[in-house]
Amino acid sequence: MFQFDRAAYDKRMEWFNHDRFGLFIHWGLYAIPARGEWVRSREHMTEAQYREYFNAFNPIDYDPRAWAKAAKAAGMKYAVLTAKHHDGFCLFDSKLTDFKSTNTPCHRDLVREYVEAFRAEGLKVGLYYSLLDWNHPDYPHYADAHHPMRDNPDWKDYKYDFNKYLDYMHGQVRELCENYGKIDVFWFDFSYNDMTAEKWRATELVRMIRSYWPDVIIDSRLEATHSPNNGLENGEPNEYSGDFAGPEQIIPPEGVTNRKGEPIAWEACITMNHHWGYASADKEFKPASMLVRKLVECVSKGGNLLLNVGPDARGRIPRESLEILAEIGRWMDDNGESIYGCGRSSLPKPEYGRITQKGSTLYYHIFEPQIGAIPLTGLKKEQVKSMYLVRDGSERPISDEWATGQYPDIPFVSANGESVRLPDETDTVIAVELAGSAR
Ligand code: GLC
Repeated sequence: MFQFDRAAYDKRMEWFNHDRFGLFIHWGLYAIPARGEWVRSREHMTEAQYREYFNAFNPIDYDPRAWAKAAKAAGMKYAVLTAKHHDGFCLFDSKLTDFKSTNTPCHRDLVREYVEAFRAEGLKVGLYYSLLDWNHPDYPHYADAHHPMRDNPDWKDYKYDFNKYLDYMHGQVRELCENYGKIDVFWFDFSYNDMTAEKWRATELVRMIRSYWPDVIIDSRLEATHSPNNGLENGEPNEYSGDFAGPEQIIPPEGVTNRKGEPIAWEACITMNHHWGYASADKEFKPASMLVRKLVECVSKGGNLLLNVGPDARGRIPRESLEILAEIGRWMDDNGESIYGCGRSSLPKPEYGRITQKGSTLYYHIFEPQIGAIPLTGLKKEQVKSMYLVRDGSERPISDEWATGQYPDIPFVSANGESVRLPDETDTVIAVELAGSAR
């Protein structure tokens, strides 16, 4: 019987719970049609039709060092790249398939270059690996929920041996464990209908991975894609339940705790526009200021943000995404202290923003200017040892503005002298160091 070891779990998750912010990269052949990574399934493309993209794939501008530098400058500490997406195309030199980047006109092992470049910038490296595979002959075709040939009657009587696919899939994960040094995160995607857990031979897979890298972090989709059908979240983890919950395109309203009320690690994965894979017509990007606030929201609820980019067919991260990353980076340069190593605070969210906490320091994130000084709701004056503006370290005394006198129990602080304009209109952060007894 598998015994979940909470202490070992907490230890394994230390860096992940500290670092808080990562880059998701969805990249593959689908960058060429440029309508997102589901294009083959959605448009019911045949293998021959999709093969055109394989024959054409030649990302001459792929420069993973530039990607790594952009991620680092944004304040990100780790990244996750699609080593294989649902289309089955491998960005690495697998011995088990011909459907890989080294056989396209680009002839490069894109995963190897990625892990080397990101490690060189001091970032942790993760790999996304799709459990689905629309290219493998032994993956269910007809009547599968997602396969491009799911409703094509020509495939109705097609015979396949799913175990052969599982051997292949396990073999590829073994290659990724053996040939690319230490992978920090394995991000499997995804379980659906009866395609979950032991259907993937998940215990065997997890044991194999941990035999190479005992403290690798594994996501939770081998067992279930949406919470709370997952052992980690219902408080009775299985060996394959994984290490963190992965809410997708949503930030959990109250963070994630298991049924016993204990916090568990989670990571919200979110797109910058409306697609994971490159989509040339999708120009609706979330503003950087919104994404900064969403990162703060994740941290204030004890979670991480994995923010996605979809590089194009030439191997370039879209300019809009680079600009957003750079802008987030400027805020992180000033305020990273209120993100790294921080988590949920013991106080409720104030109406104008959010609070993150690290030990006995509370970080008040102020999104909305106030009329006059800002009330530090939830605190008493005697709990405040000292305060400073995080972006420049300048001290902030408790405000003695006359109007605050009506609320003698609440400490107020002025963010910007007499001005009601916040020094940083995206999010101005005031650190409050609590007096010893108030922790
Ligand atoms: C979904 C999609 C997939 C994407 C993933 C990211 O499961 O199938 O395309 O990679 O979400 O979380």
